[in-house]
Amino acid sequence: MLNSLAGPMIVGTLFETASPDDLKTQYCGVHMWREAIQRVLISEAELHCRIQALGRVIATDYQGRELVFVAVLKGALMFSADLARAVDLPLTIDYIALSSYGNRHVSSGRVHILKDLSESIANKHVLIVEDIVDTGISLQYLWDHLMSHHPADLNVCALLDKRARRRVELPIKYTGFDVPDAFVVGYGLDYQQRYRNLPFIGILHPEVLTPEPR
Ligand code: IMP
Repeated sequence: MLNSLAGPMIVGTLFETASPDDLKTQYCGVHMWREAIQRVLISEAELHCRIQALGRVIATDYQGRELVFVAVLKGALMFSADLARAVDLPLTIDYIALSSYGNRHVSSGRVHILKDLSESIANKHVLIVEDIVDTGISLQYLWDHLMSHHPADLNVCALLDKRARRRVELPIKYTGFDVPDAFVVGYGLDYQQRYRNLPFIGILHPEVLTPEPR
């Protein structure tokens, strides 16, 4: 039965017995999509708690300054909305869209802007709101792009930090959680545009990932 739709389920034994092709067919359909999640890494309650705490620290740090969130689409959509409500200060939110992954699960290493800023950030106190920092290549690109617009200062708040895969180092002032080297989805993060609407962060079963071409 479709008990998987009732809550964040962990996979059953089918994963151990089925071939990768069977798994893709069975678990990437519209009914059993939650079974593609191998395990819940960060629960909805843990996300809420940590984001409230981050919001309090950011509100203290930016007291009396004109704060602008630059949130990175689409991954930081949920995070930026919840974080903004946890910061008890007047702030504005702008969105920027970058592309480096396409529909793959390994960064192409080439970043380009799909949607740029709508408002000037010159002389403003800017906080980049990111879903996850993996290799750091996207963040480096975004950092350089925003610095060219002369903000008063620039900092980074990342919900997730996947340190094991870092290729470019940048200071991340606020971090939600350190995560292991696994492909994670949910709470805004996707695989091939799916799973963003899961209310928790989960590890995607590796069998579901399409192998990268060599
Ligand atoms: P980076 O340039 O390698 O740091 O990748 C940054 C972007 O890749 C993030 O903003 C995400 O959109 C995406 N990304 C990296 N790791 C994951 C993951 O585990 N799940 C989903 N998206 C990811």
